[in-house]
Parts: sequence; structure tokens; C-alpha cells
Amino acid sequence: MAQNPYSLIFGKEPAQLISRAGQTAEITNAFRSEPPTHQIFMITGVRGSGKTVLMTEVTKQLKKDHDWIVIELNPDRDMLVSLASKLSSENAFAALFQKSNINLSFFGLGLEVNNTAPITDIETALSKMLKALQRHGKKILVTVDEAVSTPAMREFASAFQILIRQDLPLFLLMTGLYDNINKLQNEKTLTFLYRAPKIEIRPLNIGTIAANYKRNFHLNDPEALDMAKKTRGYSFAFQVLGYFTWEHGVLNEEVLADYKLYLEEYVYEKIWSELSENDRKLAYGIASAPSGQISEIRDFLNIETNQFNPYRKRLIKKGLLNGDTHGYVFFTLPLFNQFVLENYGLYE
Ligand SMILES: Nc1ncnc2c1ncn2[C@@H]1O[C@H](COP(=O)(O)OP(=O)(O)O)[C@@H](O)[C@H]1O
Ligand SMILES: [Mg+2]
Repeated sequence: MAQNPYSLIFGKEPAQLISRAGQTAEITNAFRSEPPTHQIFMITGVRGSGKTVLMTEVTKQLKKDHDWIVIELNPDRDMLVSLASKLSSENAFAALFQKSNINLSFFGLGLEVNNTAPITDIETALSKMLKALQRHGKKILVTVDEAVSTPAMREFASAFQILIRQDLPLFLLMTGLYDNINKLQNEKTLTFLYRAPKIEIRPLNIGTIAANYKRNFHLNDPEALDMAKKTRGYSFAFQVLGYFTWEHGVLNEEVLADYKLYLEEYVYEKIWSELSENDRKLAYGIASAPSGQISEIRDFLNIETNQFNPYRKRLIKKGLLNGDTHGYVFFTLPLFNQFVLENYGLYE
């Protein structure tokens, strides 16, 4: 049997990639325009929705133009020093900084510079380095996967704010779960983040998924569409359903059982563990009202609209609920309804 083309690994560019051309272009166009319309974007969405893959897509697009330098930073380390260090580890840039008399010896970085005192403030150092790169038409994109509000992240964001005010060609692209991004945005000192654009990851296109399944499993159109709909466009589900169907050769009961188990073990249990008691109660109400009608859910839970709304909004922001149809809500994730019914009140 040929090798399974579907991938169960998170954070890695899959062989079977469904295009997110729209959301990719939204970011690359803003970064590329002169002057840029935005220098920062934050990608949010539930686990497995495809945040890391989208970020990789964006960096791949930008890197086609050699003026773009992409640097990935870890929010658990000193990000400013890491950025300076990664920039000066490229030979061409180290030579450029040397020629521009930027003495980085205080940080143990760069090439030797004579007759110029070492810079001792990292923000000053970065400002000078970026200015030198700017003169050569370079643009620097910093990526942070799974941003959390760590001291290093807050320090970096605050320096970023100052550097872009100096019109330096610095860009920032972050991914994160809604709660983590929200916490970072609400830091009082980082007001600019509050206004920074967020990309809420959307489901993959069902027609494109169907075309993919049709091709790989030799299905007819209705069969392929039926199979695609089972994923609800959830990225991880697209891979998992494809993977087990490939393993079994055909979409049968066993595949569906493996599919459900895999989604639950790798994502839903974690999502569930992170929900508050009230979120879970609301989720239970939603799962128990198959029509999805909000009035029915409220009746079931015996709560008022003003109690219901804040939770509804939060679950939508987290990417768990779809509230596009007025008066209705639905879970975005496939089989999540059933998972909630099976797990609510399990440990009471
Ligand atoms: N555009 C896409 N097309 C097909 N599969 C995708 C796409 N984006 C993500 N995936 C798959 O979904 C899973 C989760 O993707 P990932 O980017 O790691 O999610 P997140 O970072 O949001 O947790 C992986 O198995 C990945 O291969
Ligand atoms: Mg990720």
C-alpha cells in the first residue's frame, strides 16, 4: 500500500494542504504594501484549527522575496536578545553591522568594531541594526507560535511598539489560543496590541475538501461531499478522517470509530479541561438542544438572555461556537455535540 498522504502531526505543513488563500493574502498584502497597512497580526483559533500551518504559509509566501527575513522567537526566552543574536548570526548581516559601526560585543554578538563603544542597551542595538537593514531594503518578520503573556513576550511587544514608531521595517505575526491572545492584548502597557488586527481562523472550504477526498479515494461527487461534511471544515478532522480512511481503504464504521476517538483524545479532552464550569454547562445546554435554537437552549438551562450572551460570545471567540445564524448557535467542531453529552457531569 502506498504511504498515507494524510498527517496526524500538529504544527507541520501537511502534504494534503487545503488552501487558505484569502486569509494568507490578507496578511501578506498588508505587510507588503508601501507603506504597510499593518505591521502585526494575531492568528487565533481552537487547537488543531490550523494556526501554525497558516503562519507557515504566510512566511513561505513572503520568503519568496529575498528581502524578507523571517525569524521565529520563543516567548519563554529573552526575545530581544534572541532577535539580535539571530540577526547577527548571518554572516552577511554581521558584516553589515560591522560596517555600520554597530558594536554588539557587550552582548557577545557580531564582529569586532574598533573605535566605537559597545552598545549596552538592547533596544538601542536593535534600532541601529534594523536601520542598517532598512538601508538595504530588508524587512524583518518575527513569528511567535503559541504566544502567551510571559514577561519576555510583554517586554518584546513593548519594544516592538517603540521600534515601529521609528518607522523601522519590523513585522510581527503571532498565533495563540483566544484566551492567551486576549490576556496579552489586555495588558495595560500594550495598548497598541488592543487595536492590532486578529485573524480568527475559519473552517476549511468544504468543496475543496470534497475534491481532495474524491481524488484520493475515487469517490463520486455526493460521496465525497458527504465525507467532507463530516469534518465541518475543521483542519485536524480533515487529516484524521483522511488518514483512517486511507488505512482501512474505505470509509466504514471502524474508520468513524477511530476518527471520533482520535479527535477526542488529541483535542476535545484538552479543550474540555480548559472550559470553566459555566462554559461546560452552556455547552451541555447547546448539545442537548439539537435544533440549535437559542430560546430552546435557554429554556433547557433555565437562564435569561443576559446570562446567556456573555458565555455565548466567549465560546464564539474561542472558535468553539458558530453564531452566524441569528437566534441559533452550533458547535464548530465535528462530533463535539456527542462528546459534550457523553462527558458532561461525568465526575460529579
Ligand atoms: N490548510 C490546511 N489544510 C489541510 N490540513 C491542515 C491545514 N491547516 C492545518 N491542517 C492540519 O490540521 C492539524 C492542525 O494544524 P495546526 O496548524 O498544527 O493547528 P493549530 O496550530 O491551530 O493547533 C494538522 O494535522 C495539520 O496538518
Ligand atoms: Mg499550533
